[in-house]
Amino acid sequence: MTLFRLDASIRVEGSASREIADIVVDEWLATHPGDAIERRHIGVDVLPADAWPRAVSAMYVPESDRSPEQKSAVALAAALVDELLAADAIVLAIPLYNFGVSQHTKAWIDLIITDPRAAAGEPPLLAGKKVILCTVRGGAYGAGTPREGWDHSTSYLRRILGDVWGSELTVVEREFTLVGVNPALDDFKDMAASLHQQALASAQEAGKALATSA
Ligand SMILES: Cc1cc2nc3c(=O)[nH]c(=O)nc-3n(C[C@H](O)[C@H](O)[C@H](O)COP(=O)(O)O)c2cc1C
Repeated sequence: MTLFRLDASIRVEGSASREIADIVVDEWLATHPGDAIERRHIGVDVLPADAWPRAVSAMYVPESDRSPEQKSAVALAAALVDELLAADAIVLAIPLYNFGVSQHTKAWIDLIITDPRAAAGEPPLLAGKKVILCTVRGGAYGAGTPREGWDHSTSYLRRILGDVWGSELTVVEREFTLVGVNPALDDFKDMAASLHQQALASAQEAGKALATSA
């Protein structure tokens, strides 16, 4: 079987989203030893920013008349969709940046939606496929906090992955990853440590459920 893993953090060392996704992968491999883990690191090996406009413009041009740049953008979009369709299950590790969806994740989603298999919507691209979204935030956005409602990434990703693409989505979240990094947040050390442990436990539970259901 195949697990597809996407990482959108712009760093590798000390990444909280990768820590959570690592646990999901470990749980998968514990149940499916030797399985292939197909990976794409869009925060580090970034998708070309001009691929999306080229793939969109190619939609209005017959295949035989497309420029080499349009053909290569269409091929890249198809490769991204192939990765998802070939996977038995999917884990995505995506941080919150600047209160919104990371630009690399948006580029990945936009490009995928140019492919006819994703655009058609019927059946949805990931219908019935199990997806775990591991998302992390430096701050805290819960009910009653000063920035309640400022996380414009997680709700968007729920819409695309669950509602538009039809996946069976599980979200594992960790907040306050900047506690211990930003001294202004030092008062929240105990809370952050507890949230960290809860996120690791949730990742283990979600990973186990994913692996055993596949
Ligand atoms: C450029 C940049 C912008 C960020 N913007 C936000 C933000 O708007 N809200 C927030 O809570 N955290 C923000 N963070 C903090 C990250 O969400 C946090 O460091 C997270 O742990 C990053 O994911 P990673 O640990 O997997 O690399 C930002 C971090 C960076 C580097």
